[in-house]
Parts: sequence; C-alpha cells; structure tokens
Amino acid sequence: MFKSNEKIKLALAPMAGITDKSFRQICVENGADITWSEMVSAEGLTRQSLIDNKSLALAEKFSLAEKDYWVQIFGDNPSSMAQAAKIIEEKIKPTGIDINLGCPVKKAQKAGYGAIQIKNIPQVIKIIKAIKKEISLPLSLKTRVGIENPQEILEFAPQLEKAGLDQLVVHARTLKGMFHETPHWKIVKELNNILKIPVIYNGGIKTTEDIKFYSQKTGCQTLMIGQAVIGNPWIFQARRQGLHILIKTIIRHAELVQKYYGDHGLITFRTHLASYLKGHPNAKRLRRQAVQIETIDDIKQILEILK
Ligand SMILES: Cc1cc2nc3c(=O)[nH]c(=O)nc-3n(C[C@H](O)[C@H](O)[C@H](O)COP(=O)(O)O)c2cc1C
Repeated sequence: MFKSNEKIKLALAPMAGITDKSFRQICVENGADITWSEMVSAEGLTRQSLIDNKSLALAEKFSLAEKDYWVQIFGDNPSSMAQAAKIIEEKIKPTGIDINLGCPVKKAQKAGYGAIQIKNIPQVIKIIKAIKKEISLPLSLKTRVGIENPQEILEFAPQLEKAGLDQLVVHARTLKGMFHETPHWKIVKELNNILKIPVIYNGGIKTTEDIKFYSQKTGCQTLMIGQAVIGNPWIFQARRQGLHILIKTIIRHAELVQKYYGDHGLITFRTHLASYLKGHPNAKRLRRQAVQIETIDDIKQILEILK
C-alpha cells in the first residue's frame, strides 16, 4: 500500500502531436520525472529506410538530459513490433519500450491497433513475447480499463504480467469513455493489489490535489498526467505561474520548437500557445491570434498585449 513518505513520481503522458521534443524538454525543466514519446508506428519504423525515417525521428530524445524516457510503439504484428522495439533499443537507448493499447480513435480501431486490441488479448500476448525475445530493456504497456466494462482489465492484466510485461500504465477510462469519462480509480486500486509489476495511474489529474487524491486512493507510486499539462507544465512543480514565468516559458518553448523543427514547427506550436493563454482576461481575442502565428515575432507581439 501507499506510504506517504515515499516520493511520488510524475510522468508526462504520451500525446501525439503534443509531446514532441520541445514540449518534453519544457516539462522536464519544470519538474516532470518521467517522459514518454508520442506513439511511434512499428510499421513506419520497420518498412521504411532508417535514413530520414519519420517514425525514428519521433522517438528521439531531446538530449541526454532526458533520463527517464519511454518510447511508445503501436501495431498489431508481433514481428514488426519486436523489430521496432529492437531498433529503438539500439538507436535511442530509452529507459524502456511501451506498447500502445489505449488509442481510441476510429482510424486506430479500423487499422486494428490501440485500445481495440483489448478484444484480442492472445494476440497481445504474442506481441509481448515477441518483443521480450528481442530486447533487454523493460517492457511497459499502456491501456484502458476496458472496451465498455471497466472490470475487463482485472481479467486481462494478470495475463499480460504472466506473458512477461514489466510495467503497466492504466488510463482509468474505457474505450467508450474516450477522454472525459470519470476515471475508474477503484479498479486501478484493485489491480495494483493483484499485480506484482508496477502500475502507473493515469486519468483525470488536473491539480496538485488530484495528484494526492489518486496516489493515496490507488497506492500507485507513479502518476501520469496528460491533458492538464498542455498550457500548464508547472503542474509538475505544484505551483501556478505568474505572468513573468508564463511569458518566459512561452518564449523558451517556441525557441525550442524552432531549434528542433525550424520555422515550420511553429505551426504546431499554435495549439500550445492557445492553451498557455487560457484563462487570460483577453483570452478569446488572444487565442484567435494565437492560431495564426507563423514566427517568433508574431508570438512576441501577442505577449506584448499580455504585459
Ligand atoms: C491530443 C492527445 C494525444 C494523445 N496521444 C496518445 C498517444 O500517442 N499514446 C497514448 O498512449 N495515449 C495518448 N493520449 C492519451 C493520454 O496519454 C492520456 O492517457 C489521456 O489523455 C488521459 O490522461 P489525462 O486525463 O491526464 O488527459 C493522447 C491524448 C491526447 C489528449
């Protein structure tokens, strides 16, 4: 069970289109203990040349300072998944590899990867065994509590553990519950008592109080935060930012985006900027401008209005 004197670790959740190198660096600089890559396609890694490989680029660390870092892969073919894991072990040297069994989007469901794979646990076991044969790094898997019934995980997780899994990340919502269902934390608590491997809690953490609540209720030593980090990387330090820090962080983040991805990367920064500006008195007008920025100067102009 949870002992209050043990340090809780906080992980940044994998978020496709959001947790690129620049944002992960911002989160580590603001106290995130553990980071996750965006989901990386096993087919993209294994079917295309490794030179200029987009999937491999997604898996890169921002620097050696990214010390506790997991690369997440997705796919339903055991051999491609094993090969992809091996490539990542050799080229990236992360803390471990993580399997995506949580993505709920229609495209993933059609292609047969993500949360829908909960429907075919024997195949997931094949994937786990194939990967374990190829790599010596720890193997993690991130999943939801079920397709519709949150009890499902109590049945399938012990099978995954038996197949050789080293860590389980539980997004405490069902596939049907998408991103806003009230988290089934009691199920995670129960699961944490059943499994021997570490269980990481994920789902619905929005505040420092939530961090305390979910760690005490579930007994999980590591908690993972997703949506609430966007526009608020200070959540890892249990403090809200003042205007000065807000402006400094926005510029730092934008400069990192430019460093890693060039001017074009700033297009993806628009979402982050709009989120940073949430809650500001002029938010509506500022956010309309935020989604049109193309250069760091455009960003600085918006920040002038904030001052
Ligand atoms: C924009 C977006 C992209 C996401 N991409 C991934 C992903 O690539 N892999 C994954 O396992 N989960 C992904 N997730 C799910 C999150 O990792 C997390 O499980 C979910 O948001 C629940 O945590 P939260 O309630 O703290 O947001 C994504 C979520 C969002 C909002």
